[in-house]
Amino acid sequence: MTEATTAPATPFKDLVFSGVQPTGNLHLGNYLGAITKFVALQQSHDCIYCVVDLHAITVPQDPVQLRNSIREVTAAFIACGIDPTKHIVFNQSQVSEHAELAWVFNCTARLGWLNRMTQFKEKAGKDRENASVGLYAYPALMAADILVYRATHVPVGDDQKQHLELARDIAQKFNNDFAASIAGHGFGDAFFPLPEPLIQGPATRVMSLRDGTKKMSKSDPSDYSRINLNDDADAIAQKVRKAKTDPEALPSEEAGLASRPEADNLVGIFAALSDTDKASVLRQFGGAQFSTFKSALVDLSVEKLGPIGADMKRLMADPAHIDAILVDGSDRARVLAAQTMRSVKDILGFVSRG
Ligand code: TYM
Repeated sequence: MTEATTAPATPFKDLVFSGVQPTGNLHLGNYLGAITKFVALQQSHDCIYCVVDLHAITVPQDPVQLRNSIREVTAAFIACGIDPTKHIVFNQSQVSEHAELAWVFNCTARLGWLNRMTQFKEKAGKDRENASVGLYAYPALMAADILVYRATHVPVGDDQKQHLELARDIAQKFNNDFAASIAGHGFGDAFFPLPEPLIQGPATRVMSLRDGTKKMSKSDPSDYSRINLNDDADAIAQKVRKAKTDPEALPSEEAGLASRPEADNLVGIFAALSDTDKASVLRQFGGAQFSTFKSALVDLSVEKLGPIGADMKRLMADPAHIDAILVDGSDRARVLAAQTMRSVKDILGFVSRG
């Protein structure tokens, strides 16, 4: 008999899950930090990509705008190269198991864990008493989104790292709390995988074009702080040209970006858009003035983002087609989620029809 020399294979099948909120325009941060990764992972993994509309209502939403944003994020997914026939694209509210498992996780997660979430503190601001309970409990819903498919890999930008750690803590605690029942139902040592965040590359945290110390975000009041996926070539060019910089030429080595947040950000964006790293961008542009670098960045941005914006527009002209994609994706996602939820109910000890 030969002894096993490799680690035992994980009992979980590799599966990618990620989500994007339908709140306002998608921007370059969403694209480089998340959506480009979604596209690449389709080659190697089964993937589920979700328009997380239940997350959107943690803050007030206008129903007409929300419906439009759900379609717009779906259009962006498709325009960027996600294939909804080979993978699953759907909107969260259509698969009620997300909310159902979130309740279970509300009972698993500890108040102390949620109290540490920096994004809640930022979003609730000073008027915390007036924030919705949903905004506070949001990370438990995010854990449910991933774990209702028992997904193993989650591509996200750097700002979601803490939420992913919480999802792992929740999965671990559920596995521990119900260990005997999990084993008794034939699931071995663990029912949920500990999902692994995929946060890689030169643009995991794209910063505002107006302030290199602030994250690029949908909620920044200045539209010049971000490049939107549906900006036209003129808008892209104007925003890049107006982007804040410092008076120095670009350094030749990455270390030279250390205390220059705006330069670091623009070099990171260039690297991500051209699918290289910061070091090779600096090999090309080290010593150059920003005017030269910005011209090249305008050309590159328009070349990469122009076709996406145009395709989004084309797709948005046919909402029935987008809705059909979401219905089909929801139907397929629901089958998988229902299977997990049935097992969770058995593990918890709920009496059901069997
Ligand atoms: P959301 O909608 O704020 O952002 C969607 C994705 O874009 C990334 N991102 C950025 N990446 C780099 N630089 C930036 N400036 C930037 N801004 C946003 C985010 O990290 C994210 O990957 N809670 C999530 C949505 C969600 C989710 C999930 C994600 C709900 N359930 C389950 C993964 C798995 C959110 O609000 O992302």
